[in-house]
Amino acid sequence: MQSPLDEARHLAYPAFARVAIIAAPSSTRAVPTSIVALPITASPEKPGTSADPVQALRAATAEQHALLDNQLPLAREGAGLDEYLQHLRVLHDWLLQIAPVLRQTHWANAYLDAVARDLAEGGIDPYSPSSAATQAHAGRAPAPVDATYAMGVAYVVEGSQLGGRVLLRRLRDVGVPHSLRYLEGRGAATGSHWTEFLTALREALASPQAIACACDGARWAFDILLTRYRRLGLLP
Ligand code: HEM
Repeated sequence: MQSPLDEARHLAYPAFARVAIIAAPSSTRAVPTSIVALPITASPEKPGTSADPVQALRAATAEQHALLDNQLPLAREGAGLDEYLQHLRVLHDWLLQIAPVLRQTHWANAYLDAVARDLAEGGIDPYSPSSAATQAHAGRAPAPVDATYAMGVAYVVEGSQLGGRVLLRRLRDVGVPHSLRYLEGRGAATGSHWTEFLTALREALASPQAIACACDGARWAFDILLTRYRRLGLLP
């Protein structure tokens, strides 16, 4: 079976793969290469020490991402509609929680609607008491947050669309009889949108302090997401 990265490289972003598959330091991601079509430094970095914002964010969150990539029920072989709807319930509350932070950027604000519509089609009310309970338990955003911190949070949400392309293909392959609006996202425009986001990210994170602050934001976003999955027993 192909690794998620191979699938992403060959199926989700064929144009990207043609122009720039860049070797990434093995210490910064569980996966060996990157599909990001922008220059990336090739030397190994300690988490949080890279001068490149994207590299720094990737290194800072590598461990957290690997947990999702390897262990999320939706990412396992045989995952279907039940796992998709479980996933959306978690994402719905998470996106609601981080919405005030994201409003400080022009990014990552467009995904909640697709999540809510797919849930509604599956007959699930995301505002049910059990969702409200997990919402209450999962930690609040530090307020007010810096705009650079918010860009780190946006990085996590925008980046999640990349893996979404892989998951979309798998669910379609097993014939899930349901709309997959959230995973479809921007469809063929996902790659160009990600490139635009990375340009804005690099512009916004012009100092080591700004990069460090964004890394804090990204780690926080992953942390509260992982907490939500764990509380529902979906991750160890
Ligand atoms: C909601 C859960 C998830 C979040 C928040 C998330 C977040 C991210 C982020 C921030 C990136 C950007 C990395 C970069 O800087 O290039 C990314 C990329 C990626 N994710 Fe995820 N991800 C999630 C779930 C998954 C799952 C379950 C898979 C497994 C199929 C996956 C596979 C990938 C792949 C293949 C990439 C692109 C490869 C790379 O450059 O590292 N993701 N994800």
